[in-house]
Amino acid sequence: MEREGEDDDIVCLDESFFIDDNYQLTTFTFGSQVLQLLCLQSASTDFDLTGQLVWPGAMLLNDYLSKNAEILQGCTVIELGSGVGITGILCSRFCSQVVLTDHNEEVLKARP
Ligand SMILES: C[S@@+](CC[C@H](N)C(=O)[O-])C[C@H]1O[C@@H](n2cnc3c(N)ncnc32)[C@H](O)[C@@H]1O
Repeated sequence: MEREGEDDDIVCLDESFFIDDNYQLTTFTFGSQVLQLLCLQSASTDFDLTGQLVWPGAMLLNDYLSKNAEILQGCTVIELGSGVGITGILCSRFCSQVVLTDHNEEVLKARP
């Protein structure tokens, strides 16, 4: 039995209510390479949205690659789970061909 006014208390939220898509154009510098990418500034994400931000491991890897760019020359690179894409995009400055992948549609929305 429905009480009077009960419908007024029901609020329906779709998943977008819980998604932070406040992407900021952010500058990253690795040696002589400057990258401008859209990403979150937060330290964590909800759901399976880890690819919305740049992870510390990617920063370390990019620092290493920028200092050893000769190992990339002439190579074809595939980045699995690229998220923001910071590593694949840096590699594209030195490689012959780069493929970036990610399976998360929300993460892909912020990519160029
Ligand atoms: C921890 S984040 C790392 C993102 C980026 N590589 C970095 O280091 O900043 C992992 C990424 O892998 C993606 N991912 C996880 N499982 C995947 C799968 N099976 N196929 C494609 N991408 C996947 C996620 O959507 C997420 O963007």
